Amino acid sequence: MDWGMRNRLAGIIKPDTGRCVMLAVDHGYFQGPTTGLERPGDTVAPLLDYADALMLTRGVLRNVIDPGRRIPIVLRVSGGTSILVDDLSDEEITVSIEDAIRINASALALSIFVGSPHEKETLTNLARLCDDGHKYGIPVLAVTAVGKEMSRDARYLGLASRIAAELGAHIVKTYYCEGFEKVVAGCPVPIVIAGGKKIEERDALTLAYDAVSAGAVGVDMGRNIFQSKWPVQMIQAVRSIVHGGKTDAEAWEWLEGAIG
Ligand code: R5P
Repeated sequence: MDWGMRNRLAGIIKPDTGRCVMLAVDHGYFQGPTTGLERPGDTVAPLLDYADALMLTRGVLRNVIDPGRRIPIVLRVSGGTSILVDDLSDEEITVSIEDAIRINASALALSIFVGSPHEKETLTNLARLCDDGHKYGIPVLAVTAVGKEMSRDARYLGLASRIAAELGAHIVKTYYCEGFEKVVAGCPVPIVIAGGKKIEERDALTLAYDAVSAGAVGVDMGRNIFQSKWPVQMIQAVRSIVHGGKTDAEAWEWLEGAIG
């Protein structure tokens, strides 16, 4: 793996812990101004000191993120559907590799929809993106998006994560599930977990703890941070688990104290 690829990956998955706290705010590419991301620049600004990497679209990055902030960018480069359609799987690559390089992306992120009507297109999108990324030393993060009819069980997520790795993804983002250690064991590249829909802070901390305990290298969390009433404290609590070795109970105790 070229020095540049290793350097970009080291900016995302920190060498000292082998872990990652990625903040995901790319939701608007198909959800529009979703709750908490109405003004993404304002939402993100206080959180960046606690994130190892920021996952977002070029539109948000260019328009509302301070270019003076030194944070690795995981650029959402797939899209083409919205929540108004039933089948979200009909995505294409929506950012050229030239623009990703121009914007100084540290990684390229796209969704694959295994088992969906457009499964093949999304998987060949991944393969081509890995070719382009490899050419320029930019790693690819594959998001194992889940179609409405797919169940987030270890069998499905294990299949989708392994296919992503086989096609060349350098990092896989999937969901935590019962038997998650089997998903990790069957995937030869690092896995981060999405937080999914907003749940109680205590439960989100347990989600993060269970995931890293089962072998995930960290989280690529969005709604459970920016939709929390205490986003800054929440990302710090997640960090204390992912990088600081705290249990969910210890992190929750800290969070309770921090929010009074
Ligand atoms: C979907 O919009 C994106 O893939 C998000 O990056 C992903 O779902 C992680 O965000 P959350 O923790 O809100 O699920």
